[in-house]
Amino acid sequence: MIDPVGREVTYLRFSLTDRCNLKCRYCTLPSDPKEALTAQDVETILSAAAGIGFKKVRFTGGEPTLRKDLPEIIERCVAIPGIEEICLTTNGLLLDKLAAPLRKVGLTHLNLSCDTLDADRFSDITAGGSLARWRRGFEACLAAGFPSVKVNAVLMGGFNEDEGPAFAEFARDYGVEVRFIEYMPTESARKDWWRVPVDEFERDLVKAFELQSRKASRHGGPARIYSFPDGDGRLGFIQAMSNPFCERCNRLRVTSDGKIRSCLLTGGEVDLLTSIRAGATTEQLQTLIRMAAAQKPVVYELHAEQDLDMRSVGG
Ligand code: 5AD
Repeated sequence: MIDPVGREVTYLRFSLTDRCNLKCRYCTLPSDPKEALTAQDVETILSAAAGIGFKKVRFTGGEPTLRKDLPEIIERCVAIPGIEEICLTTNGLLLDKLAAPLRKVGLTHLNLSCDTLDADRFSDITAGGSLARWRRGFEACLAAGFPSVKVNAVLMGGFNEDEGPAFAEFARDYGVEVRFIEYMPTESARKDWWRVPVDEFERDLVKAFELQSRKASRHGGPARIYSFPDGDGRLGFIQAMSNPFCERCNRLRVTSDGKIRSCLLTGGEVDLLTSIRAGATTEQLQTLIRMAAAQKPVVYELHAEQDLDMRSVGG
């Protein structure tokens, strides 16, 4: 589906819940948790989207592995004609048990969040989370043989900006991609955290590890990617704040309360779930999805003082 300014919109992201088993200091806890979509709703929405050219889906949250029916949701999506890539973004803590079953039902792409490789810092930023447990989840993913495992680290001034080399070595040792994401302001955030200049951080790592720039991925994702001269891993840098990728944005989002949203930050929202409950046809749902795409901002604007509800919209 092509939006009014010529972007091909082919990627749907679902926030399956805004509940989470961590309390990261930069993320807001929901006062009234929303988890409105059933497995059938997800299948209904994704089938309608696939019918108008959507090819890729990502499940996120909140923490999507808290949904007991996650394997069922993935299994249903694998069966939808036209869907080529099924991805999950998770904090990884439940993957020691879940990685193998998720791989078995057909999940191929996993992004694990981890902002620090230091156990004390991990516990600090996540309000009590265990890095050892995260590592067990990560290793279970490698053992389960996923074609793609990536690690997302949000870069935060005064917190983890000294961990570039540690993450680079981690990426090289395990042969995975570690992506540094520019911090985006959320409600409970220390407002100065987002001000880390990712490009400077990037330049230092490129120099220290003699990183080689790679061509953009097939889907032209938001990250600038580098490989190592002496290993399989990769590093990626995502400048969501200082260099937004809006002109290449191919996404729409479904929130944990069943609205389809045109952008993480600004732009309109269309209620899908109410229409589904009222018995909307596939064609009617496709019209609503097109309406949401038509509301995608050409460029988003984000200010440091703006609040962002990452959980229900989907991080
Ligand atoms: N800024 C940037 N990235 C964030 N994420 C969550 N909150 C923020 C934020 N304020 C990331 C998580 C995870 C994904 C779900 O979104 O670290 O990788």
